[in-house]
Amino acid sequence: MTSQDFEDGLAAMETAARQAIAYRRDVAAAETTPVATYRQMLAAFDAPLPEGPGAPGEIIDDLITRATPGVRAATGPRFFGWVIGNSHPTGVAADWLASAWGQNVGNLTSAPAASAIETVAANWLLEILDLPREASVGYVTGATVANFVCLAAARSEVLARVGWDVEADGLIGAPPIRVLIGADAHATVFSGLKYLGLGTRRVVTVETDDLGRMLPSAFERAIKSGEGPVIAIAQAGQINTGASDPFDQIAPMAKAAGAWLHVDGAFGLWARAAPTRFDQLTGVDQADSWATDGHKWLQTPYDCGFAIVRDAEAHRRAMAISASYLPPAQGADREPSAYVPELSRRARGLGTWAMLRQYGRSGIAELVERGCRIARDMATALSHEPGIELVAEVVLNQFMVRFGDDDAATLATVERIQTDGVAFIGAATWRGLWVMRVSVSSAATTERDGEISIAAVLSAWRAVREP
Ligand SMILES: Cc1ncc(COP(=O)(O)O)c(C=O)c1O
Repeated sequence: MTSQDFEDGLAAMETAARQAIAYRRDVAAAETTPVATYRQMLAAFDAPLPEGPGAPGEIIDDLITRATPGVRAATGPRFFGWVIGNSHPTGVAADWLASAWGQNVGNLTSAPAASAIETVAANWLLEILDLPREASVGYVTGATVANFVCLAAARSEVLARVGWDVEADGLIGAPPIRVLIGADAHATVFSGLKYLGLGTRRVVTVETDDLGRMLPSAFERAIKSGEGPVIAIAQAGQINTGASDPFDQIAPMAKAAGAWLHVDGAFGLWARAAPTRFDQLTGVDQADSWATDGHKWLQTPYDCGFAIVRDAEAHRRAMAISASYLPPAQGADREPSAYVPELSRRARGLGTWAMLRQYGRSGIAELVERGCRIARDMATALSHEPGIELVAEVVLNQFMVRFGDDDAATLATVERIQTDGVAFIGAATWRGLWVMRVSVSSAATTERDGEISIAAVLSAWRAVREP
């Protein structure tokens, strides 16, 4: 790289920063959120592989010009699709530094500051979620990988207890592991089972209630109906209803059966941080591992999730990497790569540390409470309209409604809302029927945005009902 290239690259960093700030101002104030399609974007970017070097300024200008029409306004105030946080500006700023500093958090020597920050933020996380303080925390890309990592620790430990070393000997010939899972578990938990050789079809499915919570009696039957190593997978925050499993009832049963209890709490675990929601998760701290996200309720930028394991030794056994060229951590120092699947990675923890400082305990509590309040108010207002049915009680920040008598009306209404662009809301199926599913998980959403969005939904539904 010539010194000119270097200076041009720095100028491109400035351009990107200026554009990013302008974008966030625009998207926060935008009345509608139209976005180009994937196909349109493919056409905008379609080009042959460059034969030689490019100029930094041109590359970044070109990226901004071509991409902006296809940037989904996920950080906007009326985005209720999936479960998406706001990529809060403070978290983004910390994340920029993570990239600019080019730190590889593969070991303590290669990234002293980032490693120390991750240690401190890990302790803060355990405190705010009120989980066992001795638990280990791995900074992963999201809850999918957090589930995988936690289940790897679970697999290691339940097999170790029957004398099998899965890290050394693999699964071939290993004692079979029974896996219990709620009927309304999130799809990504099955990814973890798939990666770990535990199979998605071999699970024992535990019956759930109308909010998707495991029935304690069904859990008891399932856990008592076999022998040998068991992993039970529960969840905090069902993706459609926001409801959590009855941990206070199932955790003692899991313990009595010698099972490892894992909790997928991608967003729902954050209810622990809000005093009025805390009760929904009573007993969750009795589990053995927890998966959660930073990029949902904590509002960090992507990629940010946490694999939290009570038995740090099992966590390390499943994940640690050693090689002669990697300096080992001294004494009790926390080796950042010992809790995640990868060696080289970016300083993911910076965004977490920054967001925990940004909000603090009271700020996060308020954020969770506000999301829940807006969700409840939106659901209540919509359910007063003829033809709109609230599908399940609203217990957290997620809710579902159906329009008219058939799936077609619901899908048409959702499509209409998306086309109108005042708010973004998606569809899902629940108990075999299509619903509109709303997730209030962004720090940008205010009560006023809730009201504007109610009006947008009603207008779309009336247009579908009376074309
Ligand atoms: C309950 C639950 N588990 C797991 C996931 C997967 O999380 P991620 O997309 O961050 O990997 C989600 C995502 O919404 C979720 O809601």
